[in-house]
Amino acid sequence: MKDRIDQLKTELDALMAVTQEEVEHLRLKYLSKKGLVSVLFDDFKTVPAEKKREVGQLLNELKNKAQQKIDDLKLQFDQHAETTATGMDLTRPADDLDPGTRHPLSIVRNRIIEIFGRIGYTVADGPEIEDDWHNFSALNFTPDHPARDMQDTFFIARDPDILLRTHTSSVQIRTMESTKPPIRMIFPGRVFRNEAISARAHCIFHQVEGLYIDKNVSFVDLKQTLMYFAKEMFGEQTQIRLRPSYFPFTEPSGEMDVSCLICGGSGCNICKHTGWVEILGCGMVDPNALENCGIDSKIYTGFAFGMGIERITMLKYQIKDLRLFFENDVRFLNQFTGAF
Ligand code: PHE
Repeated sequence: MKDRIDQLKTELDALMAVTQEEVEHLRLKYLSKKGLVSVLFDDFKTVPAEKKREVGQLLNELKNKAQQKIDDLKLQFDQHAETTATGMDLTRPADDLDPGTRHPLSIVRNRIIEIFGRIGYTVADGPEIEDDWHNFSALNFTPDHPARDMQDTFFIARDPDILLRTHTSSVQIRTMESTKPPIRMIFPGRVFRNEAISARAHCIFHQVEGLYIDKNVSFVDLKQTLMYFAKEMFGEQTQIRLRPSYFPFTEPSGEMDVSCLICGGSGCNICKHTGWVEILGCGMVDPNALENCGIDSKIYTGFAFGMGIERITMLKYQIKDLRLFFENDVRFLNQFTGAF
């Protein structure tokens, strides 16, 4: 009997409870009529008379200890108690939780998705590790085409057919291969080019490209869509300008400038005193690119455009060094608290 009492005492010392239900469970286990402690009182009758005094005292100690332990455990859940049996103070105010901020590139990407979403564009995604067909050949880059050099590609040494995509135009190809027109989609994603890292370039950056294919899509639709985007992104007063350019997968091709946000067009450092800043490449999808994906270029026409999210973000927030996007310095990131 004495051994049993000692054993229960040690057990009681180790008791813990995380919820009020657990405390109640323990109370029943030890102190209810059929509880482990109470049962010993029944057995007490069998203790020889000469030991009754000693064992009775130990038994009472055990009962008090059990009661005290249960009371202590209960205290944990008493909201007025400052410290609990386990030494935890549940009334202490919690430590400040820093809510964090969205990365500026995510803010701008989401904004671009939202702006195009309003005119019916949905979002599609594709692999970052691509094959030559989807990144180049289907886009009308011939094998020795000098435009391949424009993109400074990372190839996989063991298999030059595999590369890191240099633009998300590869997702346009995948979409055209698998979807019947009309197609109205944008393709945000990470792209890779073998460039030295500087304030104005990085070997990893982000793009959003767009594609609209249907019957009777014309350059007018392209221009109107991009004007809508520029005004939504940079403000109603924004002007656009299209300059002729070259991409293998669009004909005709253009580059779009927006009037400088800083000086409004009168000339400053940001726009290098031209009043304009370049933000994207665009054009009418080359019939060869459509045919490569099984779309009949006699029935369908379309336009495509592509922009760098870093560039748009730098303009919008007047960020002068592209490396800031990748360093994850909280002093930089914290400045975007509460941004949309
Ligand atoms: N893919 C081009 C680039 O990364 C951008 C672009 C997309 C141009 C669609 C025209 C049309 O430079």
